[in-house]
Amino acid sequence: MRGTLVVLGAFLLASLGISYAKPDFAQEKPGSAEPKITPEDAAKKNPVPPTSDGLAEVRKLYSYNCAMCHGKIGDGKGDLAADMKLDLRDWRDGSSLDKLTDGELFWIISNGKGKMPGEGDRTKERVRWNFVNLVRSFARKDAGDKPKTESPLS
Ligand code: HEC
Repeated sequence: MRGTLVVLGAFLLASLGISYAKPDFAQEKPGSAEPKITPEDAAKKNPVPPTSDGLAEVRKLYSYNCAMCHGKIGDGKGDLAADMKLDLRDWRDGSSLDKLTDGELFWIISNGKGKMPGEGDRTKERVRWNFVNLVRSFARKDAGDKPKTESPLS
């Protein structure tokens, strides 16, 4: 008798587990909504350090694929953005991206967001991380990038 109860209990627990799991699966059904950034995505660290070679490589891609919206200098004033009446961030202002992590920028570049098309299918992961470096670099020029100890005489 006891044995039967244990088996029954295990069965009940298992079926509970299944019914708990259901809403999770339901959320991922296609067509319900746009894909969402998960906390794990947002926490991803950029594995690609910014180098002049890496930046030069994506700068070219940027001029073909991104500048028409985000502007050659990252000011968000590309022709297409104007045509589409998009209100884009001015990346030259360092604080414009303060609230977004590298992981979030990477995710948006990969998957797109709203009116922005994603790059995921046509560019390698390494290149997309370099896009993140490039996007961040628009603000760096006048934002505390000065050499610390160099004197004009040395
Ligand atoms: C059709 C115009 C368009 C093109 C082309 C485009 N974007 Fe965007 N991008 C947007 C819009 C609109 C947003 C804001 C999306 C939102 O928050 O709803 C955005 C947001 C972003 C963001 C998030 C930070 C922010 O400023 O909101 C990044 C990073 C980004 N774009 C990078 C790129 C890169 C890199 C490319 C080229 C590979 C690119 N975009 C091409 C329109 C565009």
